[in-house]
Amino acid sequence: MASRRDFLTFSAATVLAGRMALPNETCMGVDQPGDEPSKLAADPQRPRYHLMPPANWMNDPNGPIVWKGQYHMFYQYNPHGAFPESMHWGHAVSPDLVHWKHLPIALAPTPGGPDKDGCWSGCAVVEGGVPAILYTGVFPQVQCLARSEDGMRTWQKLAGNPILAAPPQGMQTTGFRDPCVWREEDEWFLAIGSGIEGQGGVVLLYRSRDLIHWDYLHFLCKGRRDELLPGKDPVSTGEMWECPDFFPLSGKHALLVSTQGAVVYSVGAYENHYFRPEVQGKADLSDAYYAARSMLDDKGRRILWGWIREGRSEAAQRAAGWAGVMSLPRLVSLAADGRLRITPAPELETLRGKHHHFAGQLARGEFSIRGDSLEIQAEFEPGASEVVGLTVRRSPGGEELTSITYNRTKAQFLVEREHSSLSPDADRGPQGGSFTLAENETLKLRIFLDASVIEVFANDRACLTSRIYPSRPDSLGIGTLMKGGRARLKALDVWEMRPISRDRLTS
Ligand code: FRU
Repeated sequence: MASRRDFLTFSAATVLAGRMALPNETCMGVDQPGDEPSKLAADPQRPRYHLMPPANWMNDPNGPIVWKGQYHMFYQYNPHGAFPESMHWGHAVSPDLVHWKHLPIALAPTPGGPDKDGCWSGCAVVEGGVPAILYTGVFPQVQCLARSEDGMRTWQKLAGNPILAAPPQGMQTTGFRDPCVWREEDEWFLAIGSGIEGQGGVVLLYRSRDLIHWDYLHFLCKGRRDELLPGKDPVSTGEMWECPDFFPLSGKHALLVSTQGAVVYSVGAYENHYFRPEVQGKADLSDAYYAARSMLDDKGRRILWGWIREGRSEAAQRAAGWAGVMSLPRLVSLAADGRLRITPAPELETLRGKHHHFAGQLARGEFSIRGDSLEIQAEFEPGASEVVGLTVRRSPGGEELTSITYNRTKAQFLVEREHSSLSPDADRGPQGGSFTLAENETLKLRIFLDASVIEVFANDRACLTSRIYPSRPDSLGIGTLMKGGRARLKALDVWEMRPISRDRLTS
C-alpha cells in the first residue's frame, strides 16, 4: 500500500510522463463501514471538538463555502481505510462553524472517467444560484466540473469533463492541480497549482465566462526554487505549489500556497491579473498544518481551514482506523505591519465549559486543573528567563509531558515532543519555528488541546499546530516552565471544552 509520499511522488511522475500507471480501481462511490464506531468512539487519541470524518483517512479541506446561511466543508477522503488512496470528497455542514453534520460523499471516482483514480482537491462556487465544484481528476491530472441541482445533496459531473485536459502546451510542469476560482465582474478566473521543473512553483491563471471553457492567460505568480523567504527561519518555496488560495484582503490580495513542506502566504498587489508579493510568511510554523483553504462568510470574514496531519507511524494510523483532522476555523485579517493576522474564530468560545482562573504566580509549577480537552490562555512576563512556557499532558511522575516553549535566545516558538509519548509509534521531533517577542512584550498564548491535537496561537501573530499521542491515561497535568532566569505568569485561564458530539464521531 502506498504511503502519502509515494502517492504524491507517483502522481508527480505520472504528470511528467503524461501517462496513467495505477491499476484501474473499482470505486463503489458509497461510504464503506470502516472500523467499528464503538472502537473509534473509545479511542482517547480522537479529538472531541475538531471536525473529522467518522472513520478512515482525510486530508485537504476542499471548497469551503457558505450556502444559504450554512457552512459547507468538503475534504479529501478515502472511504476504504486510513490510508491515502482513491480520493473522494467527504462533505459536512455546520450552522455555526463548530458543530457539524456529516452528509453523503459528494464526489467519488467514476470508473473509466477522467477522475477514475481519484477526485483531488478543488473549490466550490455558486453560478446563477447553482453550486459548482471544480476539482482535479487523476491520472493524469486534469480539471473537472460537477454541479448540484438539489441544494448540495448530490453532484452531477459534467458529461464533457475534463474541462482542462492538460497544462499549457510545452510547459514542463511538476503538477497541475487544485483549482481555485473567483469572479471579477462577469468573468470567472481560475488559479491552478503547478510548478516548472528545475525552476520553482507557479500558479497558472485562466479566464472563462461559463466555468467550462477556459483560456490560459499567464502565471498569476511565480516562485524561485532556490530563493528562500526572508526571516530567521527561511523557507524554500520548492518546485511545486499545491492548493493555491487567492483572495482580496483590506485593499491588498493574499495568495496561500502549500509548498510540500509549509503553507506559505504572500500579501501583495494584484494588478492587470498579475500578483506581485510584497510581504511573505508562514500561515503556521509547523508542517503538521497543510493544504489551507479559505472561505468568505456572510459576515464578510475570511475563514481559513487546514488539514492537520498525523504524527505517528502509518501502521499506527491504519490500526487506529482513522487519520487526519480538520483544523479549527481561523480568521484571517491584515495586521498593521502588512502581515497576516490569523486568530481562532470567536465561535469556538461557545464550546467553553467550566472555567478556572489562576493569577500572579511564579512561572514554575503544577496546577490543579487536568485534562486533554481544554482551551488554555496564558500570559507571561518573560523577565530574565531564557525559556518560558507551559507543559501539558504531563503524567504525575513526568514520564510523559509536552512542552510549549518560547526560547528567547534562539528566537523560537516550539512544541517539544521528545517526552510526549512512551509509544514508539509517535513522532518525537519538535514542531515550530522562528518567533521573537519585542522588548517588554508579554507572551500571550491561546492553546487548544484536543486529545492528539494541539493548536497554539501566540500574540496574534503566530500559529503552531502539533500532534502528540500520550500513552498513559493519567497524562493530563498542566504546569508552567522556565529556564535560565525568572519569568512571571500574569494570568492563566483554563476552560474545559465541550465535545461537539457524544461519541468522538463529530456528528
Ligand atoms: C495536498 C494534495 C493536493 C492534492 C491532494 C490529493 O495535500 O497533495 O495537491 O490535490 O492532496 O489528496
